[in-house]
Order: sequence, then C-alpha cells, then structure tokens
Amino acid sequence: MDTPLAAALRTATRTEHEQAEHMPFVGELMAGRLPLAAYVDLLSQHHAIYHALEAAEPFVRADCAGASVVVDGLARSGSIESDLAVLCGPTWRDGLRVLPATRRYVDRLRATAQTWVGGYVAHAYTRYLGDLSGGQAIRTVLRRTMAVPDDALAFYTFASIPKPKLFKDAYRARLDALPFGVDERARVIDEARVAFRLNADVFADLGAVHLPAVRREPATDVA
Ligand code: HEM
Repeated sequence: MDTPLAAALRTATRTEHEQAEHMPFVGELMAGRLPLAAYVDLLSQHHAIYHALEAAEPFVRADCAGASVVVDGLARSGSIESDLAVLCGPTWRDGLRVLPATRRYVDRLRATAQTWVGGYVAHAYTRYLGDLSGGQAIRTVLRRTMAVPDDALAFYTFASIPKPKLFKDAYRARLDALPFGVDERARVIDEARVAFRLNADVFADLGAVHLPAVRREPATDVA
C-alpha cells in the first residue's frame, strides 16, 4: 500500500499499455494510413463505450468518495456524437455498429463501472488519462496526415483542460486520495488491466475488419 494508487495503476498496466499501443490497427492509425471509414468505425466503438462509462456518473457522484473522480470536462459522449455528425451527416446514427469486442467491453462496464465505484475508477483512469496522453498524439495525426477537420476532432479536444499535464497530475492526486482498502485497491488495479485488454480486443476486431490480412498477421518464416 506504500505506492500511491495512480503510480501503482501506471506500473501494473505497463505491459497491457504496450500491447494496446502495438496493435496493428493502432500502428496504421498512428502512421496516418487508415481510410476515414476505419476511423469512423473506431468512433462508433467509442460511442458505445463512453455511453456505458458515462452512464455510471450519477451512481458514482452519489458516493461521497467517488464524487471526487467524476469531472465534468472529461465526459466524451457529446463530443463523439458531434464528431460523428460532422463526418457522417445527420443520419450518423444509422451507420453505428458495435463490434463483438465492444459488446464485451460494454457488458463489463455495466457489470463493474455502473455498480462499483472502484470499477468506475479503473475504467475512467484507462480511458480519460489515455485520451489526455496518447490521444493527443492521435489527434495530431488525424489532423495533419488524415486531414480530419478541427470540427470533427471534439473527442480529442478538452476545452476545459488547457494544460493536460497539470490536469493529469491533479487527477492522479484525486485517485491517490480514494479511501480504498488493500483488497479493493488490488481489485481496482486488476480491473484496469482488464480495461486495457478490452481496448486491445476492440483494436483487434477493428483490424480484422479494416486491415488487409497481410498487415494483420505477424511475419512468419515460410522458407
Ligand atoms: C496510439 C497509441 C498510444 C500511444 C502513442 C500512447 C502514448 C502514451 C503516452 C506517451 C503516455 C504517457 C503520458 C504521460 O506520462 O503523461 C500514455 C499514458 C497513458 N495511456 Fe497511452 N498511448 C496509446 C494508447 C493507449 C491506449 C489504447 C490506452 C487505453 C485505452 C492508453 C491509456 C493510457 C493511460 C491510462 C495513460 C496514463 C498512464 C499514467 O500516467 O498512469 N493508451 N500513453
């Protein structure tokens, strides 16, 4: 229990973070080589995931400890909807589809984040600190390489958080102040690892749909 929760979360999820970062779909995204349709599909998955995560907010806010980690400026559901409307037009809802890994992620959010403050903490940490970190690099690629217009990048634009680094430090301090006992803290850390793996699974499903087989398979020596 000596290590503060935020530092423990970072250390415990390092391997899962690297695995998610190295998924082929993420590699193609970061190289700016994805067709726009693939990015729209990623946003569709985010739509389902963030709705399930943010549906937990009233429950978490009602908890005297949990209330400190629900921050208005973090919520992404509205910005995902406005990005989809810009990219796909007014009938954007008709094009939404939820991949199997996303369905599993949403089920997990319902069972954990929506019923247990620690579950919300694990999943909110994984998504929001990610969006404020690597997400900012993704934003740059979408803008510069894939020419996604600024008005379709609301998902990565945290209007009330001008300095992500300062915000992340303050958010970590809130995590550290949560009154979890030893067992619950261990469960929170386990759940964050699950959250990372669920994200990697979503990238795997997206890769299966959008990447040619040659880019999905590891190189094998057939000689
Ligand atoms: C495009 C792929 C990714 C890149 C380039 C990337 C990059 C980074 C970088 C550079 C940081 C460190 C920022 C800092 O120290 O303030 C970071 C932190 C983080 N990333 Fe990622 N990331 C990627 C994918 C992901 C994914 C898929 C997730 C999970 C959904 C994720 C979740 C996180 C979290 C939770 C942190 C905060 C770690 C901490 O300080 O506790 N990242 N990422």
